[in-house]
Amino acid sequence: MSRLLSSTRARLVLFQVLILGLAGLVTSYAIFKLVTVPAQQESDAVLYEQWNKVSSGLQLQADGSVAYSQGALPETEGDAQIPIEAVVLTKDGVIAHTDSRILPDSFLSQSAASVFAGKGGAMVDWHDRNGAPRRVYYEQQALGDQPNQVPVVVVVSRSTAELQATTRRLLLLLAGGSLLVTLVGAALAWLLVDRTLRPVRAIAAAARSIGDRDLHRRVDVPTPADELRELRATFNQMLGRLERSFEGMRRFTADASHELRSPLTVIRTAVDVALARPRAPADYQKVLQSVQVEVDHMGRVLEQLLLLAQADAGSLRPLLREIDVADLVEELAARWRGAAEAKQVEVVAEIPDVGTVQADPDLLRRALDNLVENAVRHSPALAQVTVSARSGDGAWLFEVADQGAGIPEDLREEVFRRFVRADSVRTRRGGGAGLGLALGAAIARAHQGELTLARRPGPGAVFQLRLPAPERPPSGGAGGETPSPGFAGYSPDSPPREAGFAGTPAAGEPPPPPASPGTPPTPRGREPHRASPLTPPGSLISS
Ligand SMILES: Nc1ncnc2c1ncn2[C@@H]1O[C@H](COP(=O)(O)OP(=O)(O)O)[C@@H](O)[C@H]1O
Ligand SMILES: [Mg+2]
Repeated sequence: MSRLLSSTRARLVLFQVLILGLAGLVTSYAIFKLVTVPAQQESDAVLYEQWNKVSSGLQLQADGSVAYSQGALPETEGDAQIPIEAVVLTKDGVIAHTDSRILPDSFLSQSAASVFAGKGGAMVDWHDRNGAPRRVYYEQQALGDQPNQVPVVVVVSRSTAELQATTRRLLLLLAGGSLLVTLVGAALAWLLVDRTLRPVRAIAAAARSIGDRDLHRRVDVPTPADELRELRATFNQMLGRLERSFEGMRRFTADASHELRSPLTVIRTAVDVALARPRAPADYQKVLQSVQVEVDHMGRVLEQLLLLAQADAGSLRPLLREIDVADLVEELAARWRGAAEAKQVEVVAEIPDVGTVQADPDLLRRALDNLVENAVRHSPALAQVTVSARSGDGAWLFEVADQGAGIPEDLREEVFRRFVRADSVRTRRGGGAGLGLALGAAIARAHQGELTLARRPGPGAVFQLRLPAPERPPSGGAGGETPSPGFAGYSPDSPPREAGFAGTPAAGEPPPPPASPGTPPTPRGREPHRASPLTPPGSLISS
């Protein structure tokens, strides 16, 4: 039963049956009463009339006997075809009656006794031994004048078999009609519900048949232009989102494994070659250095991936510290100056506004370092990279501008996606895995800010990192009374991040600026896994 009721169709049909059944019951009752009550009243009226006729025609004779004025007691009343039995009783028994006698003496004497006992007359139903029904009316009547008045009881009765038969036929008709209406209603409801639910079942079947390998498929069962069409559209939209998400994940996995496999190949080849024959210590050192470079790169990629995964999961929560903006920008520029000089590029810091910003020093440095690293890497010789910070509109705007080739119009959005690198092979030298800007954007979002590529006339790219400014007014300036750990002073406070890559000594750190001029910021000199063409846009969950 509960299994049957678990189907919507069965429930709707059952509901319909209950409604129709109840309606049938109420209607039948009303019709039954409307028909039978007047019929009963009419039948009773005939009996009253006959009683009146008989009792008013009774006369007390001089000898004390009772006679009916018109001879024998009448057996019918009006045009009624059903004979009416009439009996007159005194305390001593029956004194007059119609030719036909049906009511037994016992019943008659009982009725008379109750009347003589002062209980009054009544209209009652009586059944003979075979169950044939009769309606009986008895009441007292006084005959003769005072003081010789004689009380008599006049009993009239007639068969109600015909009335009962009519009533029974009516009942049968009403019950049959109600049942028929209920059944037909249930059948129609079943068909209607079936028709309505058919598209739902079709949608469900189509949905069941779509696996994670064919998410490109769509549910296209015909539906009426109603809520079902909306359901179908919603379902297809969800499929679209799932498809994009799965596709992103697939591409991401492919990109990530490619990015990690290439340095492994380089390491394996270098080690194989080194072990092929005995070598001088200097050769081994060279090999180990190249292995270190690859391991560094892998560590950096893994760490970026873990941070991005944290951002995707919404668990990249900045550990906010108050950072002095002037210190931060100065230190940032100073840190990259050595690497830039090697390329004859000048790094200039511009700090028109002073104050502090609430940010996670580790994350903020990571985002800004990547911007400066990109700018230096894409700058031609004798060019300038400008790092600046301005406050206004309740936000701090950090800007890194260079005079390089800039970002092609069609890649302005793409560069923020994971594993996207727009570089030519030449400029790609020393670059990362194409995760820096994606991570920078995620870091900005985690701070309720944003990382954008500004539009500026002239050559070069201008990246802007906007961070909300602290609520209270900025303090007097760099090195004021406010404790400002500055950029360099962040590391002791910042607990190690879970995403830290334990294998690399510089876990979580961007490449340290070279100690001496002449070395690029990311001293890699490694080409193989950078030689891949521009990786198509891909993201783990969405972008
Ligand atoms: N200042 C810039 N000038 C020109 N192209 C840039 C600049 N910054 C970033 N790009 C382009 O955006 C791509 C993505 O940058 P990023 O996410 O930092 O990755 P990566 O530095 O590892 O290549 C770079 O590969 C490069 O093609
Ligand atoms: Mg980068």
